[in-house]
Amino acid sequence: MFITFEGIDLSGKSTQIRLLKEYFESEKKKVISVREPGGTVISEKIRDILLDKKHLKMKDLTEFLLFSASRQQLTEEIIIPHLRKNFIVLCDRYYDSSTAYQGYGGKVDLKIIKSINKTATGHLVPDLTFLIHISIEESIRRKKLIKKNEDRIERKTISYFNKVTDGYLKIAKNDKDRFVVIDGTLSKEEIRSMIILSIKNFSKKSKSKK
Ligand code: ADP
Ligand code: TYD
Repeated sequence: MFITFEGIDLSGKSTQIRLLKEYFESEKKKVISVREPGGTVISEKIRDILLDKKHLKMKDLTEFLLFSASRQQLTEEIIIPHLRKNFIVLCDRYYDSSTAYQGYGGKVDLKIIKSINKTATGHLVPDLTFLIHISIEESIRRKKLIKKNEDRIERKTISYFNKVTDGYLKIAKNDKDRFVVIDGTLSKEEIRSMIILSIKNFSKKSKSKK
């Protein structure tokens, strides 16, 4: 099972991945979690280039191709081998992030994004994707609370992030079978329960199809 988490910064993705990993471990399941961009030595180096605040000249297409390169390496080196060994793979962001950020937020043609997303992942599609939805105002509020340093992407404008959040909702609406949209302002525990319930329902449905 391949499960991905999407949403803008500070929406609660890593919190829920940690809680879900603990849940699967308590059920004695084999599980790993990875994050994008990163997760391999090469992908972490690409991450440093992408998030470096000094790289102000980076073009939207360069940005997208670097995210895709990082993703390709992570998919081939870690995700696919673990899925083959029957691990549950939890991924903090996957190609929907590129569609939302570089496509809806930036200026990269959505058709190009769709095509390269497929190539970079070898057509691997997550079984389930949780979109944890919060507004940019809530993200900023949380950022102030934890005094997080901003990386290059987080320095983009509010109007950029509004396009990203709207984009995410559009992506989810067009792929209702795969996406579960969750209100990120609910409590951590409420969100955790909704995620576990969705996974149980998904597993039941897949068993009845077999
Ligand atoms: P992300 O991985 O999406 O950037 P995190 O899981 O790191 O988000 O959470 C960002 C911040 O928001 C952390 O301080 C975390 O404690 C807080 N947070 C996470 N989930 C919730 C929630 N449901 N309600 C309020 N705050 C939350
Ligand atoms: P990160 O610190 O991992 O953010 P978060 O904790 O919210 O996941 O930084 C990744 C940044 O890169 C984040 O701002 C989102 C952005 N990003 C894209 O713009 N496109 C992508 O394809 C991916 C994977 C991430």
